[in-house]
Amino acid sequence: MKIVGESPAICRLRELIRKVAATDAIVLIQGESGTGKELVARSIHVQSSRCKKEFMAINCGAIPESLMESTLFGYEKGAFSGARSGGQIGLLEKAEGGTVFFDEVSEMSLSLQTKILRTLERYKMRRVGSNSAIDLNVRFIAASNKNLRDAMERGAFRRDLYFRLDVVPLTVPPLRERKEDIPLLVDWFLDVLGKDSGGAYRMDPALMRQFMAYDWPGNVRELRNFIEYGILFCENKTLTVAALEPRFDSAYYSRGTAAVELASPSGPDATALQALLQRFGHNVTGKKALAAHLGISLATLYRRIREAGLTAGKSGRS
Ligand SMILES: Nc1ncnc2c1ncn2[C@@H]1O[C@H](COP(=O)(O)OP(=O)(O)OP(=O)(O)O)[C@@H](O)[C@H]1O
Ligand SMILES: [Mg+2]
Repeated sequence: MKIVGESPAICRLRELIRKVAATDAIVLIQGESGTGKELVARSIHVQSSRCKKEFMAINCGAIPESLMESTLFGYEKGAFSGARSGGQIGLLEKAEGGTVFFDEVSEMSLSLQTKILRTLERYKMRRVGSNSAIDLNVRFIAASNKNLRDAMERGAFRRDLYFRLDVVPLTVPPLRERKEDIPLLVDWFLDVLGKDSGGAYRMDPALMRQFMAYDWPGNVRELRNFIEYGILFCENKTLTVAALEPRFDSAYYSRGTAAVELASPSGPDATALQALLQRFGHNVTGKKALAAHLGISLATLYRRIREAGLTAGKSGRS
């Protein structure tokens, strides 16, 4: 359950997880696919007092709409034709005392959203075909890789449910915005994934440079897959560019060595950064263009500028 990374964003995330784990507050985790949302949800659970009980992950996109209600809430005997004669307990009741994780929450149908909203408001539920309410003692966490606010504004997600879920919002940033975590993740996965075949795997420095220049559209999951593949197909326990080259998608590949240097774990190189700022311009337009060139957000660029000890510069005309 280790969350690897020392970037400011990951350190802040770890701190928030620690704090929120001590409470029963509803948490909404957002981030691109493969950034580690489920890992964050599980970390909250294992650090909470509910850790000995169930972590019930429910993929809202995977259960057919027609089965969703009975799967979640269970049903009484004879609730509908085809129902099991003894009735059935639902996933929410099974999670009693533990944590319920609504994964891909944006995929919930509007009708189910209405029912879930009621449960989230009162911590009570009804089995299908029953009139009596059952108390629920669970902690709710939801995750989405689509922007839930956008879904709400489009009318695809209930407004009231959105605000019910958005109590503690956590965002897991894409890997391309925290490239300094790449070497740590590489070491971690070489260790964990190489264990079964005796360990001691290494990565060729040229491949590491390529990893730093790549934008990782599939985020940490993609990086993990690359390492797994590399371990399988490398020679002499050394992962090389040649072994992994076919896996890189050129659309996301290499923005030049400047990006590599700026993302280096030893911190940004002030001289390189100064030169780039000179070239692109110190004003907001220039910084926006530079951030795009490097494949990082404007906020990250400002952070790098601060970390390099450079002043933010005059903002000038924009
Ligand atoms: N910071 C991290 N440290 C170690 N492992 C990580 C980290 N982030 C993600 N992983 C690993 O990467 C893989 C993908 O993470 P996870 O399944 O949590 O992503 P996700 O955000 O839920 O993706 P999706 O939106 O596609 O469901 C998992 O194997 C997870 O353990
Ligand atoms: Mg997931």
